[in-house]
Amino acid sequence: MPSLRDAARGRILFGGDYNPEQWPEEVWEDDVRLMKEAGVNSVTLGVFSWAKIEPRPGAREFDWLDRLMDLLHAHDVGVVLATPTASPPPWMGAQHPETLPRSEDGSVVWYGSRQQFCASSPVYRRYAAALTEDLAARYANHPALTVWHINNEYCTHCWCDETAAHFRRWLQNRYGTVEALNEAWGTAFWSQRYDTWSEILPPRKAQYMKNPTQVLDFKRFTSDALLECYVTERDIVARHSPDIPVTTNFMPLWSGQDAWAWSAQEDIVSVDIYPDPKDPLGGQYNAMLADMTRSQAAGPWMLMEQAAGPVNWRGVNHPKPAGLNRLWSLQSVARGADAVCYFQWRQSRQGSEKFHSGMLTHAGEQGRTFREVKGLGAELATIGAAVSGTDVPADVAILHDWDAWWAGAQEGRPSALLDYTEVVRSWHRALWETGISTEFARPEADLGRFKAVAVPQLYLLTDAAIDNLVGYVRGGGTLVCGFFSGVADADDRIRPGGMDVRLRELFGIRTLHEWWPLDTDTTVECDGFRAGLWSEELEPERGTQVVSAYRDGELAGLPAVLRKGRAWYVSTLPEPEALRTLLGRVAEEAGARPVLAGLPADVEAVRRGELLFLLHHGRSTVTVSVPGEQVDLLTGRVVAGSVALGRYGAAVLRSRAAR
Ligand code: GLA
Repeated sequence: MPSLRDAARGRILFGGDYNPEQWPEEVWEDDVRLMKEAGVNSVTLGVFSWAKIEPRPGAREFDWLDRLMDLLHAHDVGVVLATPTASPPPWMGAQHPETLPRSEDGSVVWYGSRQQFCASSPVYRRYAAALTEDLAARYANHPALTVWHINNEYCTHCWCDETAAHFRRWLQNRYGTVEALNEAWGTAFWSQRYDTWSEILPPRKAQYMKNPTQVLDFKRFTSDALLECYVTERDIVARHSPDIPVTTNFMPLWSGQDAWAWSAQEDIVSVDIYPDPKDPLGGQYNAMLADMTRSQAAGPWMLMEQAAGPVNWRGVNHPKPAGLNRLWSLQSVARGADAVCYFQWRQSRQGSEKFHSGMLTHAGEQGRTFREVKGLGAELATIGAAVSGTDVPADVAILHDWDAWWAGAQEGRPSALLDYTEVVRSWHRALWETGISTEFARPEADLGRFKAVAVPQLYLLTDAAIDNLVGYVRGGGTLVCGFFSGVADADDRIRPGGMDVRLRELFGIRTLHEWWPLDTDTTVECDGFRAGLWSEELEPERGTQVVSAYRDGELAGLPAVLRKGRAWYVSTLPEPEALRTLLGRVAEEAGARPVLAGLPADVEAVRRGELLFLLHHGRSTVTVSVPGEQVDLLTGRVVAGSVALGRYGAAVLRSRAAR
């Protein structure tokens, strides 16, 4: 199977989305000159080129793309060539309105923006496949081609009639009979029973709360329907060029796509990460998404897009202060990226993204952003050979699952304040701050190689997942599980007792009497810490160790954190410092250690292969003690005993003994 290794060839890929169709051809020469200056060795071409290649149905205008492919190749810039199927031209919507998605209330989502296609539309699929076929036939053997990039951030949702028919086929495949569907969806409730398949619809706009299992299945279906589109195009390009790896770029922690299922269908897992430069924990966010993507890739991954400066889709779009782009890029590399790419190469002058930064901004080659990009390109070239293809070891797994997210995020739950991604982020943050490296895993994955497993909050767990967790602890593993977990089965049916009995036995919980969610800005005092968001009325079995009890409110005296041997249960969300202490203690007992002990605040240490990355997220100057004699690959200098890091500073150390 082709891989990122084939495309990177011992380098870190560096570059970005390149949209030359927005510029007169004379600019292209300037582009390649500046790409060379910046150390760009890879660009992503064609993402939004459908209307340029196929200006009217069936037309093919490839000449301009031929010239670009040749130009880039002549300058030794590899091409990640996109199938431009994310943004159909207006003619498709005008001539085939059934390709346009419909919202939950039946209104049409019109062209004039992008991504206006219904994934279930045979017409859309036919045009997309035909174009992919011709694109692949034309460029499969072009020497500039390094990676196929299918579509872009698959994310559309549609509730139209074509989708309804497709959804029914998907449901027939899942349930076989309408009776089985009625049973799974619990349609005895509110007179929702279906008599025939033809009555079943996507969960459209309704009078009051919708059937939650119908909503859950629709999310599963939508992810699968988009995946079918990806697989169709992937198979076409792979047929023409079996040695070229194929990817599609994810939005990370995006609810619309089950990235575990999708990544299994990719040769390269790639992702677009946009931390907010204003977020004091932007570095943690970047680390979390890097860890997640590396886990999906089971190795090196591709940062397909990030921003060199501000984006344009937040309320207030903050530029990156000097040094931050470099720091976060090196952090991505430390956490497994073998490609550091941007949206986009040259900032647009027209269209919706003219205030979104590029590597080359409106300020041009004298601008600070481009100067910093050039500096980064040179550094990545320096460390590329030592880094590329190497692994990032991690002893602790964080479990994450789309089904649990989809089922838990619906209406009618104990608290609308519960935000799954925020809980995951809190737990990752706690471990990140202890300096312990983490991976993400799905609940059914083989967990045997991890010293500890953390479940921030998995409302839905399949039987297989529960058996997996129980087996993991029986086999000697340490498990720490957050509140409101193991509540529902795969059909979103509440498990008897409100938490599966196997889990209650595992944690030593006799009865879960009630969930007691907390209001915004309300905290509850527990032994040793304060906590928020959630609490639970738990009755432990005799012999269960109460690690911390609630001290105030209705639950005073009842367990907040308990454990039975190596199985820990945390029934609330401790404040950040307390969660860090708690998870640090669990991990330490399990034998998981920070990468480097005694780090100054704001300094992150990551081991990748034989290298030690030190990343300073603060603005002061700090001194970090390091073992033995090392060489900083970024500067070539020998470091003995300690290294000083300035504002947003970084070092990439290799032990001299290792050489
Ligand atoms: C996404 C898209 C890009 C661009 C950026 C802007 O990642 O893939 O085309 O719109 O967002 O941040």
